[in-house]
Amino acid sequence: MSKIHAAITAVNGYVPEYVLTNKELESIVDTTDEWITSRTGIKERRILKGEGLGTSDMAVHAVNGLLKKRGITADEIELIIFCTTTPDLPFPASANILADKIGAKNAWGYDLQAACSGFIYGVSTGAQFIESGKHKKVLVVGGDKMSSIINYQDRTTCIIFGDGCGAVLLEPNEEGYGVMDSILRSDGSGRQFLHQKAGGSARPASHETVDNNEHSVYQEGQAVFKFAVTNMADVAAEIMDRNNLTSDDVTWLVPHQANKRIIDATASRMGVGSEKVMINIQRYGNTTNGTIPLCLWEWESQLKKGDNIILAAFGGGFTWGSVYLKWAY
Ligand code: UT7
Repeated sequence: MSKIHAAITAVNGYVPEYVLTNKELESIVDTTDEWITSRTGIKERRILKGEGLGTSDMAVHAVNGLLKKRGITADEIELIIFCTTTPDLPFPASANILADKIGAKNAWGYDLQAACSGFIYGVSTGAQFIESGKHKKVLVVGGDKMSSIINYQDRTTCIIFGDGCGAVLLEPNEEGYGVMDSILRSDGSGRQFLHQKAGGSARPASHETVDNNEHSVYQEGQAVFKFAVTNMADVAAEIMDRNNLTSDDVTWLVPHQANKRIIDATASRMGVGSEKVMINIQRYGNTTNGTIPLCLWEWESQLKKGDNIILAAFGGGFTWGSVYLKWAY
């Protein structure tokens, strides 16, 4: 019997309607459209508005659309891996909440926390359940309501992040398509440069933590930039090397959308021209776990069976990694 690979058989995405432009940010913090565009490549981002709405509510839109496209019902899903840094609640897992909201009554699931590399970790771990034969339909969701942990008085972070969610379905493929390889890395000593100070067990919420704005993203941008630009490019080059892929062999690079300069550096290191790089950072900013599936969703109509696709990400933790997949449809 030929080897079972985990193939992406459907993809869908959802972004909220509200558009937060650089122009509007100019009226909130001391910044300019010119600074944001030249330093990050971002022009606008989406914000989820509405009392009581969380990341799972965006996932419901993405997943319901995905099921419709694939022509299956929610009760056929066996496992949900919900990659998110902004779960609806500290517990239970957003995977459980999502399963309930979409009616995936036969699924089990868990949340995966790897900051901006979450979706890569999720695809790689989800693939193991397919390759082992344990499951036949695994949903990997990547999404974040970053606006829920952003301090809109901090110009160094509020200009970067946005809200959005994407999802893919993994199914077995015996024709040689799907996830071919992955490299996952982490270095917890990098946590000092990018984290949320309070709200966990080490520093639970209190009046003081709220007053000090400790429930929002803390980032030392330049330090993170340095690690991101090196590690994301290195890991993408490494996965090409070990799979004997030349830049001509790579059909698409799907990079995490944190900063256009990091994306360009990764593409250049791989020798891949800009026409092969999926970039939507200008419209959505950094949606953390959402960036890669949102790209796949937006580029889906251009993808062809057999395309060699490299996913690459870097995020808080530090976490980083790369996935090589052959598109299956
Ligand atoms: O996705 C997870 C991983 N995260 C990343 O990969 C993010 C990596 N880091 C970055 O993308 C960039 O470091 C940032 C976009 C966050 C910042 O860009 P930078 O080119 O590294 O700027 P900087 O932090 O070195 O700041 C340069 C200057 C500073 O002013 P001085 O000290 O030179 O006078 C900042 O105060 O720009 C100032 N500045 C701003 N000016 C206008 C910082 N934020 C802003 C702003 N508008 N929004």
